[in-house]
Amino acid sequence: MPFFKTLLEGRPNGLRARLRGTAPSSAPASPVPTPGAPRTEAAEKALGLSHEAPKDVTPPDGYEVVLHKDALPEGQIIEIIIGGTAIAVAKSGGQHYALANTCPHAGGPLGDGKLAGAVVACPYHGWKYDVTTGACLTQPSVTVRTYKVQIVGTAVCVEL
Ligand code: FES
Repeated sequence: MPFFKTLLEGRPNGLRARLRGTAPSSAPASPVPTPGAPRTEAAEKALGLSHEAPKDVTPPDGYEVVLHKDALPEGQIIEIIIGGTAIAVAKSGGQHYALANTCPHAGGPLGDGKLAGAVVACPYHGWKYDVTTGACLTQPSVTVRTYKVQIVGTAVCVEL
């Protein structure tokens, strides 16, 4: 039953808990963002981001602004809900990469995984994925979707 509770409610220190303001951290409570709505400054802080996503950047057609280019430290990965879609955004080797947030094995949130180089390990059972290609290194027949990323001015833009 703990698995299903986690599946429904999220992990105690996961994104949903942080957005509910119940995570064991000093992050302030913030409202759950409406899908497609721009994130508020409180939501940015709840995600632990140091820079707010720029509002003065027009993304290319089909792209959405997801982060300030300096918000995500090197070697970090984060779960972001943008336009109703959960994606994981990673920074490795100075480049940003975006991939589906849901692990095909059992739905683990890859944005809460551990990033080592360009490889993220799923927080649930440790399957490993190359964030640059979406290839699963644990089960070679499995891949996760990747998304194109462009830096426009100070914004990280992802094609959704
Ligand atoms: S849910 Fe990702 S490895 Fe099991």
